[in-house]
Amino acid sequence: MRKITHRQISLQKAAATTSSVLVFAGFENISWNTHPFFKFILPADKEYLLHVEKDTKKDVGILEKVILPLGKRKVLLFGLGANEKWSFRSFERAVRCLAHLAKKYKIGSFTVHLDDFKVPGIDREKIAEGFAANIELADYEFVTHREPPKEGWPALKNIFYVCGANKNVAAQLSTGSLIGREVNYARELANTPGGLMTPTHVANAARATGKEAGFSVRVLSEKEMKKLGMGGVLGVSAGSTEEAQFVIMEYWGKKSKKDPFVFIGKGITFDSGGLQIKPSQSMEEMHMDMSGGAAVIAALSVIARMKLPINCVGIIPAVENMPSGGSYRPGDLLKTMSSKTIEIGHTDAEGRVVLSDALTYAERYTPKLVVDVATLTGACTVALGHYLSALLTPQDHVAKFMRACGDASGDYVWQLPLWEEYESHVKGYSGDVMNTGRYREAGTIQGAIFLHQFAKNFPAWAHIDIASTMTGKEDQWLARGASGAGTRLLIEVARRYKEFF
Ligand code: BES
Ligand code: ZN
Ligand code: ZN
Repeated sequence: MRKITHRQISLQKAAATTSSVLVFAGFENISWNTHPFFKFILPADKEYLLHVEKDTKKDVGILEKVILPLGKRKVLLFGLGANEKWSFRSFERAVRCLAHLAKKYKIGSFTVHLDDFKVPGIDREKIAEGFAANIELADYEFVTHREPPKEGWPALKNIFYVCGANKNVAAQLSTGSLIGREVNYARELANTPGGLMTPTHVANAARATGKEAGFSVRVLSEKEMKKLGMGGVLGVSAGSTEEAQFVIMEYWGKKSKKDPFVFIGKGITFDSGGLQIKPSQSMEEMHMDMSGGAAVIAALSVIARMKLPINCVGIIPAVENMPSGGSYRPGDLLKTMSSKTIEIGHTDAEGRVVLSDALTYAERYTPKLVVDVATLTGACTVALGHYLSALLTPQDHVAKFMRACGDASGDYVWQLPLWEEYESHVKGYSGDVMNTGRYREAGTIQGAIFLHQFAKNFPAWAHIDIASTMTGKEDQWLARGASGAGTRLLIEVARRYKEFF
């Protein structure tokens, strides 16, 4: 993966680094001559800058930029839109937009003043971290399987940050950069087509990451799953020629191997829908149905590399959902590891079926908190659009905690209810639970309430439906394909471990 160098420098150094494009960022009514970089511009060019300001001021917004190849220095005027609307969300979008422009105009290196991007209530360290992370996110494209152009892929090389004296900023820049790169790793795994990213490849990716980052990885074969009674995972996997892999990652950052957080990721490497096959358009993106699993691998990678003083376990049931003579059928009854039977109302509601066994397996760790991340329901996108994921939990304090983690990490979640009234929706006729709701409405809640039947023994549990955020939207300034949703959320959960002890 490409690597961008981030450096914190002083205002004096910024003046001397003439090869780097100077970014003037400001809200719509800014006078550029008040900007700290203004004194680095040649006098003749200053006039030009002010002139341009006059021309553009009226409609400077995040989407309106002017590039000025001035005298010795290149300058990029970058409008941030209205000051009143500025928030952490607009900050992140602006950073990605800036990176996008820099790539478009082949600006390999630029210098920014971090204080231009200040968000009320958020400290400079967080802004530095968010900046570095979002630069990485905006720089990523899925090009691994393409011939590079002669001059190479356009990429950002060196970014210089100027800010008031602050010794923590340098550390936060590298943390942000690490987070961004690992989110990109999750995107890379999810973008890789189903024929390449099979359950075995997911397991190998976990093994390779564990080796590099410093966590252990065990993988259960179908034979071992059978012994444990994982009829859910095996049932979904029956139609595929690919062997299911049950991936277990353990990071022990505390002295005693007790009280871990358990993160579970849906790992359907390709979701054809099974015998109740999906229409072709809906199937196109279904190699990304292991995005939850990818997020768990990437999050553990960051947690281990940061050497966080927590215990954290990642679990991914990696399975392919295919139609064949061996497939599970509508109406089938699957005996899960919990000993509950699942009645198959629909073979395309496979995620919750494999997750049921993962939740039961998690019980052996007596976790403090369990979070599962899954591209579970199309209904999630209908409810929320593409900017955030759905959060469902029976515990109010967990809801509050997860919301805060979402807001702080830029990986946003919004709560939907998990009221007991919905339990009647997932009652089976011939089995204990049914994998489709009895009704058409509230698809995302029905998915979650199904999972809740297998999560009742946990003191704290949250389900995150990332079907809505699986891919980015164009206005997010992210390359098409997987977004890496869930990764930053899980990292933030781990970083705030103290709130659970
Ligand atoms: N993987 C899909 C959900 C999905 C759809 C994720 C679009 C991302 C984008 C899931 O396995 C599925 O097919 N769910 C069904 C459930 C239904 C049959 C109860 C759905 O949402 O239609
Ligand atoms: Zn499905
Ligand atoms: Zn699925």
